[in-house]
Amino acid sequence: MRRHAWLALWGTLLAAKVAAQAPAQGIAPDWPLLGRAKVTEAGKAMVVSAHPVASEIGRDVLLRGGNAIDAAVATFFALAVVHPEAGNLGGGGFMMYRRAPGYLHALDFREVAPGAATPTMYVADPATSHTGHLASGVPGSVAGMVEAHRRFGRLPWRSLLQPAIRLAREGFVIDDFRSTSIRNDSTRLSKFPASAAQFLPNGAPPPVGSTLAQPDLARTLEAIRDRRAAGFYRGWVADSLVAEMERGGGIITRADLRAYRTVWRMPLRLTYRGYTLYSMPPVSSGGVTLGMILNVMEGYKPLPPFGSPALLHREAEAFRRAYIERNAKLGDPAFVKNPVTTLTNKRFAAWLRSTIDTARATLTPDAVKILSEGPSTTHFSVVDAAGNAVSLTTTINSLYGNAVTVRGAGFLLNDEMDDFMTVPGGANQWGSVDGQVNAIAPGKRMLSSMTPTIVLDARRRVHLLVGSPGGTTIITTVYHILSNLIDHGMTLADAIAAPRMFHQARPDSIQFERDKELPAGVPEATVAELQRLGHGIRYRPLIGDVAAIIRTATGWQAVSDPRRSGGGAGH
Ligand code: GLY
Repeated sequence: MRRHAWLALWGTLLAAKVAAQAPAQGIAPDWPLLGRAKVTEAGKAMVVSAHPVASEIGRDVLLRGGNAIDAAVATFFALAVVHPEAGNLGGGGFMMYRRAPGYLHALDFREVAPGAATPTMYVADPATSHTGHLASGVPGSVAGMVEAHRRFGRLPWRSLLQPAIRLAREGFVIDDFRSTSIRNDSTRLSKFPASAAQFLPNGAPPPVGSTLAQPDLARTLEAIRDRRAAGFYRGWVADSLVAEMERGGGIITRADLRAYRTVWRMPLRLTYRGYTLYSMPPVSSGGVTLGMILNVMEGYKPLPPFGSPALLHREAEAFRRAYIERNAKLGDPAFVKNPVTTLTNKRFAAWLRSTIDTARATLTPDAVKILSEGPSTTHFSVVDAAGNAVSLTTTINSLYGNAVTVRGAGFLLNDEMDDFMTVPGGANQWGSVDGQVNAIAPGKRMLSSMTPTIVLDARRRVHLLVGSPGGTTIITTVYHILSNLIDHGMTLADAIAAPRMFHQARPDSIQFERDKELPAGVPEATVAELQRLGHGIRYRPLIGDVAAIIRTATGWQAVSDPRRSGGGAGH
């Protein structure tokens, strides 16, 4: 993280209520995040998201008699205004929903490849898969919210859009985090006139304390308020999107927009040491890959202590194997067969575990570089007083998506096409080398790593709602939170603040968090021991932005990741 970003983060943290926790064993003594997670407690209901204002809007919906879906819809649209790096109208996502007393639902509103997409469209110029018009898949977010509300919402649709419209029209106050975030991407944003006009008023990032109004976005939100999905996929908003495509060499057409459909999927059920988890099935790889990792790790009884070389080695080897399977076998189920049952079977995990040598690393051939973008997705969690629970992750992929704002309509487009295998054998921006199963085809959904997860306790009550941004690191971040809680007995605040480790087979290295102003959370002696076992070691910027809710003896606790700038709101 750059210096000003780090200072901005600390400014936010100092103003926050922080959880005072004792440092855990296995963490380098100068790791600064312990005790810095933002904690919110409430008796009945809770919302936690990447922006406290969006969480408060969700909480207010609950106070007005809305249910968890109503609150999720209002929070979603508010994030599209106040958290523009990832909140969106022009992206897609996944929602896990647990409806009291116990029904589970999974909604896929992932983007799809336009009808004119081809498997080789990025080979000549791979950069066009993440910046500019060609990078965008057909957005699914608005359809997703409309569908979730149609099936399960209680309050009038219009009332859920109104807070976001007000924020867009009247503006919201730019905090340190948002100002720094826009500044960090200002070069990309300045390449596209409507993005520059919206996010760089007076030619510069909006300063801290200024008010950012987005009148074009307000008009689009009003169209969605008045005409639901038709307000976005047809009419003047759709015309503006198509005109933007034509201006910049993009390929999304009116027919692509009209054809977009959400999909209700069968939630993926996993178990881990007495807990039941529900997570996202393909076309997200999140649930299946998380399941493989958990199943491998469950066989180690007891687990070595947190942060020990023995644990990190076993985790790295479990992650390596799970990502090799992910990359070779998972893709859009409408196009390829996904062996979900096999991959999430405990016997398959036992076999994978049997291939792990506890005394040395198993090398993966081929190193690839990581184009280290920040976490550009966003996760939020909601639980209402009746026990309905939403765990939702949404994305425009890179920070500020493809950097293109639709002229006159005020929303950024995604660069989700980069989540396909864009160049055979090549890595995408997450360093992921995907297989033919994730090749581009018209109408196909690109493989995701989003892992919105709902954990039930032995009494089948909601125990935890969890998810994170971070591309392919999302899956291991969710794993770390679960294992820190269940295996290492941490509080949720410590589980989220603890340093994270990542491995995805290629590049063949364990990746630890570290940055110029941030010391690594892993002790040097541990790194030396992992190298002795044969592991490559890399360092990368902070991983993820967890927004989680856990049941307590008196209600609910929300915890926001100290790596970023979210917050909870409950009652
Ligand atoms: N764009 C990140 C993901 O879907 O995993």
